[in-house]
Amino acid sequence: MADSAPVKARGLEGVVALDTELSYINGQEGELLYRGYDIKDLAQNASFEEVAYLLWHGDLPTQSQLDELNAQLRAERALPDAVVDHLRHHTPKDANAMSALRTATSMLADFDADTESHDHDANVRNAIRLTAKMPTIVAAFDRIRKGLEPVAPTGEGSTAYDFLYCLNGEAPGEAAEAIMDAALVLHAEHGLNASTFTCRVIGSTLSDMYSAVTGAIGALKGPLHGGANVKVMETLKDIKQSGKTPAAYVQEKLEAKERLMGFGHRVYKTYDPRAIILRDMLEGLSDEKGDRWWYETSKTMMDEVYDAKGLYANVDFFSASVYHLLGIESDLYTPIFAISRVTGWTAHLLEQWDGNRLIRPRAEYVGPRGKTVGPIAER
Ligand code: CMC
Repeated sequence: MADSAPVKARGLEGVVALDTELSYINGQEGELLYRGYDIKDLAQNASFEEVAYLLWHGDLPTQSQLDELNAQLRAERALPDAVVDHLRHHTPKDANAMSALRTATSMLADFDADTESHDHDANVRNAIRLTAKMPTIVAAFDRIRKGLEPVAPTGEGSTAYDFLYCLNGEAPGEAAEAIMDAALVLHAEHGLNASTFTCRVIGSTLSDMYSAVTGAIGALKGPLHGGANVKVMETLKDIKQSGKTPAAYVQEKLEAKERLMGFGHRVYKTYDPRAIILRDMLEGLSDEKGDRWWYETSKTMMDEVYDAKGLYANVDFFSASVYHLLGIESDLYTPIFAISRVTGWTAHLLEQWDGNRLIRPRAEYVGPRGKTVGPIAER
């Protein structure tokens, strides 16, 4: 093909790289649909497993389809012994939680007979295995680093139930399970965000699903993406410990030209609908726990940041306090994002492979030309 005038956009802003049927985001109106269903409807009326089915198969499951998926997920939650051994004996206790998840997820590839297959059904099986096992990895990592024995999944519960059960070694209450389930629904899919794009780029080379998801976990880890929720908790704890008002904190950060984590978005130029749902969930949870500090402080901070900089809270802002009130360690917030988003990543891979073309953009060369290699002693 002849060279045409290159289209350039810093950070690929506004570039439409491909078609997808998975989610629709209207950044001006604050609207998010998964395969045509509004996120508010799904958060209220569908379980995480129903959403996973929707993303992988195109529509919500019937009862028998859902029962079958739940049975498959429950059967796949246990980890290969080698992965547990790795977490127990070879993962440093102070390892970054996302790094530990990334490495253990990558290991799973070697224990899956379907890894190298590009058959659609095999890829669906891989997606189920990843979705089943990643929560078990996160829980096992957390327990082992605390000197506790990993807890085996029940083989009966939902993803949210078994994750909390494996994490805490006791049955979660109904409210905690419901909140975790809704949080997983809210984080499952979000267009061509950085980790999903990473996933599709890797998939487009016809590499395998585990490689693509491992790469996506690496992308999600960054504080400009999923890692922001960990930074949000650091912010809130800093405000609590220092006794500063949210207004003073915001002012200080902006004067120092620092970013306020959990605010701003490449696509939303109004409220992120997921942030609003999480804010309301946080209020209910705060009343239940009798601790309104995190909710009140977050809400005040949200108003201050909007007034000072015109930035809206994103999904990571309120999820941090929700997980905090559920008693979860703050460095597990991004891994929780990953155990949900793996459904979106794998659905994107299925879509990519149904009509694959290598994703390979270009860079414009702006360096020098015409240089020649001189003797090394003269460089
Ligand atoms: N705090 C302070 N200033 C900000 C922020 C922020 N959170 N976000 C954007 N800005 C400013 C930025 O400094 C720049 O200002 P100026 O033009 O004066 O230099 C302007 O807004 C544009 O910034 P940008 O980085 O070019 O915009 P972007 O579209 O690339 O930003 C973003 C998107 C999410 C990286 C950014 O808003 C950010 O860094 N937010 C904080 C991290 C965060 O919360 N990430 C989670 C994103 S949502 C969920 C997810 O993907 O995981």
